[in-house]
This record gives sequence, C-alpha cells and structure tokens, in this order.
Amino acid sequence: ESPDPAVMVIFGASGDLTRRKLIPALYDLVSARRLPMEFAVVGISRTGMSHEEFREKLRAALEEQRADTFSEPVWETFSKGIFYMAGDSTEPETYRKLGDFLGRLDRERGTGGNRVFYLSSSPSLFPAIVDRLGESGMSEESEGSYSRIVIEKPFGRDLESARELNEEIQSGFREEQIYRIDHYLGKETVQNILALRFSNGIFEPLWNQNYIDHVQITVAEDIGVGTRGSFYEEAGALRDIVQNHLMQVLCLTAMEPPVNFDADSVRDEKVKVLKAVRPIPEDEVDRLAVRGQYASGWIWGDRVRGYREEEDVADDSLTETFVAMKLFVDNWRWAGVPFYVRAGKRLPKKATEIAIRFKPTPHTPFAHAGDDGTEPNVLVIRIQPEEGVSLKLGAKVPGSKMEIGSVNMDLLYGSAFIEEAPEAYGRLLLDLMLGDPTLFIRADEAEGSWKILAPVMETWSRKRKIPLYPAGEWGPEEAQKLMADDGREWRRP
Ligand code: BG6
Repeated sequence: ESPDPAVMVIFGASGDLTRRKLIPALYDLVSARRLPMEFAVVGISRTGMSHEEFREKLRAALEEQRADTFSEPVWETFSKGIFYMAGDSTEPETYRKLGDFLGRLDRERGTGGNRVFYLSSSPSLFPAIVDRLGESGMSEESEGSYSRIVIEKPFGRDLESARELNEEIQSGFREEQIYRIDHYLGKETVQNILALRFSNGIFEPLWNQNYIDHVQITVAEDIGVGTRGSFYEEAGALRDIVQNHLMQVLCLTAMEPPVNFDADSVRDEKVKVLKAVRPIPEDEVDRLAVRGQYASGWIWGDRVRGYREEEDVADDSLTETFVAMKLFVDNWRWAGVPFYVRAGKRLPKKATEIAIRFKPTPHTPFAHAGDDGTEPNVLVIRIQPEEGVSLKLGAKVPGSKMEIGSVNMDLLYGSAFIEEAPEAYGRLLLDLMLGDPTLFIRADEAEGSWKILAPVMETWSRKRKIPLYPAGEWGPEEAQKLMADDGREWRRP
C-alpha cells in the first residue's frame, strides 16, 4: 500500500534528528518506491538558508548515514521535493508564509492538501507550535485531505506537563490526528515480542506468575551523551529512555493478548498494564530504584571522560545516566513477579533485551541436589544488536556421568529471513502517512507512564548526591545490590 501525496513539514529542521533519522528514513522509502512522486518535505528552523543549502546539508548527512547505499538518481528524485523555510516557529507570521508555501506546493507539485507537521524542535517550543498551527487553521482537515501532527519524545517532563501538553494539542487536533512517536515501536524486534508471544501456542501457557520467576529488561548503551549535553542535562535516563522506550517494551512483554491488531485494541491492552504497574512509594524509592552517573573509565579499550566533563554539562551535575528499578505489575497474570529494569549510557556494550527467567524444576533427579549444573530456563528476546531469541536449556554433558550443562537454542532473525528489516523511523513514517496509529503512543499511555515514575522523580529531585560508576561498568554498586538483596543477579547480555 502506498500513501497519498503529502507534504511533511519538519519543525527543528536543522537539528540532529532530521539529519540522522528523518531524512535517511524518507530517503529509504523513496529508494524502495514506497512514497509517491508528489511527496515533499519542508524544513523550518531559525537559521537562514536557501533550499539549495538545506539540500546540500542533507545530502552530506545522507552520504554519511547511507554510505553503502547512497544513489545519485534516488537523491535526484528525493531532493527535488525538499524545501526550506527560515522562520521563528513562535511567530504567527511564519505560519502565514508557510500556508502560502504549502498552497503553492499543492498547485505545483500536486501534494494534494495532505499535511504532516513533525515537531522535532526543542520540546519547550511544542506548545507554541501547536497553538499557532491551530490558530492558523492548519490543523483543520478539509474533505478528502488530512492534517496530522507528530510529537517527538520526550512527551512532557512529568505527569503534569504531559497532561498540559495533551490538552494543548487536543485543543487544536483530534486524537486521531495526533501521532506521539516512540521509535522503539518501529523496531522489528520490538514488534516481534508480540509475534513471538501471540503467534505461538507454547509460550502463553507459561507466561505468568505460575512459571516465571522474574523478568529483566535492559536498555544498555555504550555511548555517552556526545554532543547532546544540554538536552540530556534536562532529561536524564529516566525521561530519555525509561518513561518511553523501556516502559513500552515492558508493556509489550506483560500485556494480555489483544483481540486484533487494531490501534485501539493494542493500545487498550498496553494502558491496562500501565494501570497495573505499582508506583514505587516515596519511602521505598531508595530501596527499589537506583540511579547513577558515569565517571571516567574505559569503553572497548579507550579511555573516556566522565559525564560531568562532557560538553554542556555542569561540573556538579546530578543528572542520572543510569537507572535500575524493581517494579511489580499488580494483576492476575503477574502478581508477585518482579520486573527488574535498567537503562544507561556508558555501560559495557549496546544491548537491548528482555530476559524471562523461569522457575527452577521442582526436583532435580540427577546427582546431588544443587550441584548437578541444572540452571533455570531463560528465554532472552534480543532487540538489538544480533536480533533474535534464545532459550537456555539444560542438556547432558557428553561423558559417562549424568552431568547437566546449560546450552542455548538460538534463533537469529538476520539469518532466518532474507528480507531486510526496515529502519524504525521508516516504518513509522509510512504508518503515519497511511493513517495507522497502532505503533504510536496514545494520550493515556503517555500519562500512565509518567504517573508510575512520578514518586521516583519527586524523591530524586530532592537528592544532593548521586552514585557514580566508572564508564564501562554495569552501573553503580547499588544496582547489583538491588538484585543481590533478592538472591538474584543481572544477566550479562
Ligand atoms: C533516543 C534517546 O530516544 O534513543 C537517545 O534520546 C538514545 O539518548 C537512543 O541514544 C537510543 O536509540 P537506539 O535506537 O539506538 O537504541
């Protein structure tokens, strides 16, 4: 299915996301002939630039991002539809100019009156942009054409601001026009959580508190904050990763089977999970939630600096670059099963995975109980890298003794299918233009997730100290203790 002609207006067009993700994703779609010829992009930001200068910048970025696949003819086709407008996104005048320009594109390029407004600017500008779009009438849909708005994360900075932002957007746009994006939902392997769970009969009977001891979810990165220091100082790992990506992965792991794959059926089930997650009470935060910040250390043999030495970061910053928490999903399926989650930067490697640890066998008939090598089964869903699924099983070690060793049954998506997995942003941009919000966040989901984290953020905001961990280690000691106190330990992805 191909989307109708449309114009995508990107606010914050000179930013990192446009260059690194949006334009490469659109380029891939053009290259795969998934977009109509009449498609156009209009970048807006404050910097003065001509259409040609803007195209040149994007081209340079693409040659880097798509070094292996860059093709001159594809770029030719794509770049003809790329335009730029310098303007202050808080000024009504900008929207008058934009309206005229979009009208011209409709006439000259046949973009058909369909509009996507992509908010990728600084989040502090979101309310103003939404207001101006509403006032200028650009949020209205006329017969046969659509107007949609995409909001990048972070969606607010706490429950209250997320509520305000929702109200703000909903005063100009109907919920069906609003696409809150979380690029993790565009990842093939994240969608595969649902495929694995609900297209196989063998897992679901075991997927509950009767058979599962605990769940671990890890979103680890080896990179530091790089050039995004000023953004990160405001965000921290909890807002940057936990509130969105990690909670989404948790929802997909824990949710009930939806009746179908319609947007609301899927999102209703995710919201039920969020409602069931027990917020950590303030007086338990110190025991059940750990934060940390990276100090200098070693990553892959290179010495790297600590967070406070990064560009645009305060020397006494208390921003967390690591979070670990123990959560419970209080419902029939999950009662009493801990979900240990962690996310961080400058950890030993990039690895996102879900590990389902099953309960041990009730009795061990081999050798002396306890020392026969039997270990509980673990199902690991690897989201990245080396996307796949592996199941840890006990097997007999060859030899004359009945000795049990652990082996992995491994499925690598990369070698199981010949099809290339589309990039997360490409998949989502296509869904957006086709009008399918299944893989986007609904208003109540965004709020539900903030609600869970509110007491943790509240408690942390009063702290005057933060535990440090050397870059290249799995977070501060407190994170190990969180598990050790329960007689468990974190997996090494
Ligand atoms: C982004 C965060 O949403 O996700 C970044 O803002 C993070 O800090 C990135 O690096 C991780 O995404 P991915 O797709 O590389 O796992």
